[in-house]
Amino acid sequence: MDDCIKTLADFDRTHIWHPYTSLSQPSPTFLVKSANGVTLTLADGRELIDGMSSWWAAIHGYNHPELNEAATKQLADMSHVMFGGLTHQPAIDLAKTLINLTHPNLQHVFFVDSGSVSVEVAIKMAIQYWAAKKQPKKQRLLTIKNAYHGDTFGAMAACDPKSGMHFLFKDLVAKHFFAESPACVPESEAFKDLENLLKQNQPTIAAIILEPLVQGAGGMQFYSADYLKKVRALCDKTGTLLILDEIATGFGRTGSLFAYEQAEVAPDILCLGKALTGGYISLAATLCSETIATTIGNGEHPTLVHGPTFMANPLACAIANASLKLLLESPWQQRVKQIEQQLKTELKSCRELATVKNVRVKGAIGVIELHKPIDIHWVQPRFVELGVWIRPFSNLVYVMPSYIIEGGDLSRLTAAMTEVVSERP
Ligand SMILES: Cc1ncc(COP(=O)(O)O)c(C=O)c1O
Repeated sequence: MDDCIKTLADFDRTHIWHPYTSLSQPSPTFLVKSANGVTLTLADGRELIDGMSSWWAAIHGYNHPELNEAATKQLADMSHVMFGGLTHQPAIDLAKTLINLTHPNLQHVFFVDSGSVSVEVAIKMAIQYWAAKKQPKKQRLLTIKNAYHGDTFGAMAACDPKSGMHFLFKDLVAKHFFAESPACVPESEAFKDLENLLKQNQPTIAAIILEPLVQGAGGMQFYSADYLKKVRALCDKTGTLLILDEIATGFGRTGSLFAYEQAEVAPDILCLGKALTGGYISLAATLCSETIATTIGNGEHPTLVHGPTFMANPLACAIANASLKLLLESPWQQRVKQIEQQLKTELKSCRELATVKNVRVKGAIGVIELHKPIDIHWVQPRFVELGVWIRPFSNLVYVMPSYIIEGGDLSRLTAAMTEVVSERP
């Protein structure tokens, strides 16, 4: 068995790219055999408590009987059919549920296969909306520093120009506007900056795009509902569209079903993904208002120009339907609150450590920010030794566990985080 693991690992290291890695300087990867509840079982038999929920998606844990059943049932009917000219009940049911769950302003759904592509579609919707209103110069976005919206070209252009990938593709990415982040400078100052950028560039700005309340992959930073409220009011005052990217925050992660609910605002366009299928399979969606859909539809080019091969994949839609039912029938609010309280209590002492710059918790998100980036080659095997799966990036050691995690397992995660940041070489 050990030889077999080594052969597989060697092939992987030599031939397969992993996210954000180099083939010439590979970072450690671990062969997983199975996943169940909040436990990942490695091929060598070691068991790890999962703190990442597979990049914030597996909110019900792994190998859930109800999600397995939904997938098996759907497979017997069809795993996929094209969405051009055909439709099916899993997509119709899912669209109905998403329209019911989100703000009444949102009435139309476009299904895609990943979060990044849902952002691409959101950008197209905004640009096509303004083109239909005979304002074709409105093609730019206004956002904030530290933003992260995905890795495809349109989405990447709306990511932070410093920490994002602009430097590699600078002549190809669209030039958007980046205001100070409300998570990094006083919120009033950040808002003033956003307001000024909008005032100076309004003829070219199609939309403001934001991750509501939590800037995720751009730095795991939080900002207030009050800032978001002010942005909505600014959009209303100036006739600017508001795109909210809830790919990371959607489906309960921050304590409300959608983060925008905490600010009591409505987006014009909403991006959803990740936890939509409980982390089982890739699916995302872009929702928009009646006004946007009818304006595009009545414009000179009435077709929304997007249509991926696997659009509204029936298998993914069936699993998403089961996942949403499971979520809504569970005491998720209470669970997220408990996780939040426990994270606050158990991570508090890390504030005292010399290596630690900040500790912050919001909903089922717990973050330790260090003064310096942590070495992934050291920390990843160390976490595995400690029996947990936590994947830090840059100077951030964080967890976003499944909502079903028990107190004892969560304590193992926080203990491992504390240990690692204390002993960090
Ligand atoms: C806020 C946000 N938007 C977009 C994306 C991109 O989603 P995907 O990785 O499914 O393309 C992510 C992924 O982390 C995200 O956190």
